Formats: sequence, structure tokens, C-alpha cells
Amino acid sequence: MATPNLKIENLHVEIEGTEIIKGFDLEMNGGEIHAIMGPNGTGKSTLASAVMGHPKYEITKGTITLDGEDVLDMEVDERARAGLFLAMQYPSEVSGVTNSDFMRSAINAKRGEGNEIQLMKFIRQMDEKMNMLEIDESFSQRYLNEGFSGGEKKRNEILQLLMMEPKIAILDEIDSGLDIDALKVVSKGVNDMKSPDFGCLIITHYQRLLNYITPDKVHVMMQGRIVKSGGAELAQRLENEGYEWIKEELGIENERVGEPQE
Ligand SMILES: Nc1ncnc2c1ncn2[C@@H]1O[C@H](COP(=O)(O)OP(=O)(O)OP(=O)(O)O)[C@@H](O)[C@H]1O
Ligand SMILES: [Mg+2]
Repeated sequence: MATPNLKIENLHVEIEGTEIIKGFDLEMNGGEIHAIMGPNGTGKSTLASAVMGHPKYEITKGTITLDGEDVLDMEVDERARAGLFLAMQYPSEVSGVTNSDFMRSAINAKRGEGNEIQLMKFIRQMDEKMNMLEIDESFSQRYLNEGFSGGEKKRNEILQLLMMEPKIAILDEIDSGLDIDALKVVSKGVNDMKSPDFGCLIITHYQRLLNYITPDKVHVMMQGRIVKSGGAELAQRLENEGYEWIKEELGIENERVGEPQE
């Protein structure tokens, strides 16, 4: 199997007539971990949702390909089947569907009819991964995310990641609201996935996470696009100095999108 490749070129995305993503470019391959940082309201979550095909977001220009295949042509479920995965900043609660049923359906939807995962195999894998992420076994029978604490939701997103084994994952603020121990556990989950068959795009505000998951590249997003890229040292500099120096360097007054620009 060739190593996965995600390519986003000159992407423009609108929400209800307002342009939020304005010329976003990124290419990443299996084996690589990229981090996207950036101030609030600069389009990071919008980008993630647009890649996954959220119906609210209209792509007005640009291309997204996975292994050369046109992602924009695919329905949401086809994108998942093609190997894309998104851990959301705010995972939804679903009453009436247990965590275990949800994961098995998601895995089977990806595997396709006639190729469903054996129940015993599924249970074994789920037990193993829950163990590794230090998730209590009672969580498999609880309704999806219902009443989960902030940190428990995030751990559960990583459990989905480990179970789904995507080619490319986008993790949106997977570290927000995690205590130090949970941060280590979640990082261990991501590091465990590291292989040439897996690429990971991590959206985060904090260098802290990147102490545990070393990024190959760090990108800064402002005004709906990447305005600066570097190595792990860029995240360190942002932690120490904030974003003002980048805005000065690039002559950016207002880094946010979706607001009237002067
Ligand atoms: N569904 C939506 N309807 C209207 N506006 C939206 C919608 N989604 C995003 N926006 C607007 O797009 C802009 C970018 O939002 P986005 O969530 O992508 O920012 P972000 O970079 O992820 O910020 P944060 O760091 O706070 O999570 C914001 O001004 C937001 O209000
Ligand atoms: Mg966000």
C-alpha cells in the first residue's frame, strides 16, 4: 500500500455567503504529523469540517485530493471510507446509541457489506484500546458522549481514531480540557498510530501537546489560510511570544475571518 497523501490547494470555503477559508494550501503524507495553530476565529475548525464534507460549508474554489482521488466529489460517508477521520472540537452527544454500537456501525460502514468485523474480534480490539486509553469498561455501554466529561469525550474521540485506523486524521483541539494525565494518555494513543500508513493533522492552541506528540511541521493560520510554516521550534516561539510578531512581520491587522475587514 502506498503511503497516503492529502493535498489541499487554494481552498475557499463559504458559510451562508461569508467566505471563511480564503486560499488554504496544505500537503501531507503518511508518517507525518502536522500541527495547525492560530488565534481564535481564524478558520481552523471550519477547515476541518470542510475537509470532512460538512453540508453547511460550501467549497467555492480549490481542490482536495486523497491519494489523487477528488475528495470534494465524495459524500461524507465515502470520505470516511476513503480513510479520512475527524475528531471534533465539540463532539456531539447521541442518546439511545451506545458507544460500542456506534463504533461497530462506524467500522462496518467503512468495511462495507459482506465484510463486517467479527463480533468477538471487535470486542477484543475495543477492550484492548480502552485499556490503553485508561477508559473504564462501563463506557462501552453508555450512550455516545452523553454525560461524558470534557476529558472523557476527548479520550473517546481517540478511541474512535484507534478503532477506525484511518489514513489521515484531523484532530481538532483534542487537548482542550485535558488534565496532564489524560494528555499523556491521549498522546500515547496518537503516537501508537504513528506509521507510514497514517498521517495526522493536529489543531491545537498549546505547545504543551506538542511536547508529547512531536510535529514534523507547524503551520500558523490567520485570515482563513496558512500564513507561516516551520518546524517544531515555531510552536515553541509562539508559546513564548504569542502571535503579534507574525502579524507585524506580515502586516496583518485583523487575523480573524468572518468579520468585516478594514
Ligand atoms: N456554522 C457557522 N455559521 C456561521 N459562522 C460560522 C460557522 N462556522 C464558523 N463560523 C465563523 O467562522 C469563523 C471561523 O470559525 P472557526 O470555528 O473555523 O475558528 P477557529 O479557528 O476554529 O477558532 P477557535 O480557535 O476559537 O476554535 C468564526 O468567525 C465563526 O463565527
Ligand atoms: Mg476551532
